[in-house]
Amino acid sequence: MSRILSNQQSDGLSATRCAFTKCPEGNANTSGERVADLKPSFPIPQHPEEALTLSQRVAYLLSDVHHLLPEATTILNALHCDLPVTLHSAFDDEEPMALLDVHKTLYEIYEVSLSHPLSPVCLHEHSPWLLTIRNEIETAWLNYELPRIQKKLPSESEAKHPELLCAWFIEQAQRESDIDRCFLNFLRNQASIEQFNLFILSDATLNYRFSDALALAQLHFSETVKAEIANNMWDECGRGVANKSHTRLFTLMLASLGLQQPKFPIWEDWHPYAGHNLYFCFGLNRKHYFKGLGSLTMPELFDPNRNRAVVAGLERLYFDARVKCEYFYNHIEVEEEHGSHWLSRVILPIIEVQPEAGIELAIGGALRMEAMRHYNEYLALQFGLLKKISTV
Ligand SMILES: [Fe+2]
Repeated sequence: MSRILSNQQSDGLSATRCAFTKCPEGNANTSGERVADLKPSFPIPQHPEEALTLSQRVAYLLSDVHHLLPEATTILNALHCDLPVTLHSAFDDEEPMALLDVHKTLYEIYEVSLSHPLSPVCLHEHSPWLLTIRNEIETAWLNYELPRIQKKLPSESEAKHPELLCAWFIEQAQRESDIDRCFLNFLRNQASIEQFNLFILSDATLNYRFSDALALAQLHFSETVKAEIANNMWDECGRGVANKSHTRLFTLMLASLGLQQPKFPIWEDWHPYAGHNLYFCFGLNRKHYFKGLGSLTMPELFDPNRNRAVVAGLERLYFDARVKCEYFYNHIEVEEEHGSHWLSRVILPIIEVQPEAGIELAIGGALRMEAMRHYNEYLALQFGLLKKISTV
């Protein structure tokens, strides 16, 4: 498929879709239905000379088949040559810009598996060049992250014990750093409408992708696990009421607050990318399946507390917060029991049949806690809270 052909195809499909949905802008319609966009959810350099960083080079190389893409071979060679240097800068020197570049790249790579099926980027999903880069980044990233959570993990014998492992999950999810506490208090008591808008837009990328992350955990391990994930998916989809699906509730909330769904993530920091990528690193690698379940369990345990702080802040700012922001109310009222269900219907039954999975579940949970903490730090920095904490 040539780039020209794919553009024609893209225009044709967009036109058909808009005519069908009477949509002037091309990716939404009057019923609030979102359809996958043919354009990828990351920027693509239009000319080879604009492809300078790792993420720009990968985006460019994804945009079409390489024999039709000017300078593709040169860019691919440069990418392979520079990748070890970028990974070293990111994970050995902890250079923030290199970490951001690496995580933007991983985000692009995972988005390929979630893109419009007719988009040219999907042609590369299992291409050796892309799999090689992805494997190298994932290996370097996990080698960087794993030593950081070692001390937080349960012992091998605790991890094999169903009740002890469940107790470990609860204890970890309830832990709060000073920054976590300060950030939630800020939302509850101080954040302005503009600051809340920034918070909601920061959350948008993951909120639109969360049900996909959940769906990736649906592939079979056991019937009990599958049933609980299906139960969660049913909630995500609004229990059969289209307008109550969580992504639609989020879209409705954006509209009622006068906000637009961002085309690309709004983050210019590697931490939120890393938290997002963690779901898809686990979800798109079968060998990380149990880590993925551990990572999905944690938010079910800590989110109710977070959502209550969000709702308290929204009620301080809006007399009609419940109408404007049903998304958050729904998560408090419908989802509070998810955490205990994940423990009793996912974690427990897995350990009973496969005790060796316990440490994997814990690793996924600990990495998720770490990612949540980094995300709070990122938000605290955006809102100028870190200075206040360090001077206390
Ligand atoms: Fe949800």
